[in-house]
Amino acid sequence: MSKENENMKDNSRRSFLKTAALTGAALCASPVLDKINAAQNVDGKSQSSRPNGKFSLPVITTYRTLGTGKFAMKVSTLGFGCMGLNYHRSQHPDKKAAINLVHEAIERGINLFDTAESYGPYTNETLVGEALKGYRDRVLVTTKFGHKFVNGKRVMTEEDSSPANIRKVCEESLRRLNIETIDLFYQHRADPHTPIEEVAATVKQLIQEGKVQRFGLCEVNTDTIRRAHAIQPITAIQSEYHLMFRRVEDEILGLCEELGIGFVPYSPLNRGFLSGALNEYTRFDATNDNRAALPRFTPEAMCANLRIVDVLYDFGRTRGITPAQVAQAWLINKKPWIVPITGTTKLSHLEENIRSTDIRFTTEEMNEIEARTAAIPIVGDRYNAAEQSKVQ
Ligand SMILES: NC(=O)c1ccc[n+]([C@@H]2O[C@H](COP(=O)([O-])OP(=O)(O)OC[C@H]3O[C@@H](n4cnc5c(N)ncnc54)[C@H](OP(=O)(O)O)[C@@H]3O)[C@@H](O)[C@H]2O)c1
Repeated sequence: MSKENENMKDNSRRSFLKTAALTGAALCASPVLDKINAAQNVDGKSQSSRPNGKFSLPVITTYRTLGTGKFAMKVSTLGFGCMGLNYHRSQHPDKKAAINLVHEAIERGINLFDTAESYGPYTNETLVGEALKGYRDRVLVTTKFGHKFVNGKRVMTEEDSSPANIRKVCEESLRRLNIETIDLFYQHRADPHTPIEEVAATVKQLIQEGKVQRFGLCEVNTDTIRRAHAIQPITAIQSEYHLMFRRVEDEILGLCEELGIGFVPYSPLNRGFLSGALNEYTRFDATNDNRAALPRFTPEAMCANLRIVDVLYDFGRTRGITPAQVAQAWLINKKPWIVPITGTTKLSHLEENIRSTDIRFTTEEMNEIEARTAAIPIVGDRYNAAEQSKVQ
């Protein structure tokens, strides 16, 4: 059989498995959830808050705490990454559909919404602001500063966390989001020209002024976390973490545990790949999708890396859960202070993702997922050279 034919056969098998897993999930939903109900969910709370104690639309029933003490933040076990609603994920819905989806997420109990100045740039914050209008008392909004822009265009070779720029971004983000205070303000990428102490002190002042409630950092090392935390306690670290990129397990998660800092894995499905929805035939819109420039998303890399997705299909099939659910539930089961912020543009995916919060794995199951995925060598770096120089 030719390579192409083999690939096509493999793809239709994957697509069959995905359909089978989804159907299985739907058919099995009641018994699986009842079983979990009978025990406890991952956060140890009973799920009797379901209407009449019966199965209904997927809703979040568990909440977690990011950070500790005065700067703690109680959030839904799954957050919503808003970036892909209009940026970086090729096709996106029109504004009305995107806003409707955010409203669905809120109605289903999600209270954590993540955006950034740089998504668009600017347009994602504006969309999120519009979508959250009227829901302010039910949601927590996180956004980010630190990239450098000149005339609305990002300067890829530099970052800007100067106090003046942090203040400027804060004012502009508040305006675009149409809110009085930012619930958590992350530094997006480290700025080699501004000491982290100065960054932390600036956010501390913004907190004292009431413009920001909490502080976070993305993609930083342990030294930076310790130095920043000593000036302004950090609520959450937001860095890449999923079954194809587990580097934060080396040191970062241990430090978060020690200091009482929450962890928010971004791209928890590795930008959709771990769901099984992408393969070597997927084409990205290079004008609006960073995956087009990521080494792990070349057709060759995706073709090779689908072996990992096959493991997730195989693991989930007999349990009635999809690869996306295995990937998200694995993160959620890892630590009670981890809160993934999956992005989606589709209600069906949102529902599938919400159900991940009800799935509880045993230690043996966690070990099996980790051992089987780690045994497969990953092809392609997670970032290209320019992006890689900015992350740990
Ligand atoms: N701090 C940082 O540097 C940083 C970097 C990147 C991202 N982020 C944050 O993390 C959030 C999520 O990251 P991400 O969008 O890169 O990656 P992701 O959440 O891993 O993946 C999103 C992609 O997965 C697809 N998807 C979601 N659920 C699915 C399901 N159940 N089945 C099939 N496909 C599914 C979505 O497509 P559909 O629309 O078709 O569902 C979307 O294209 C962003 O919105 C952003 O807030 C932060």
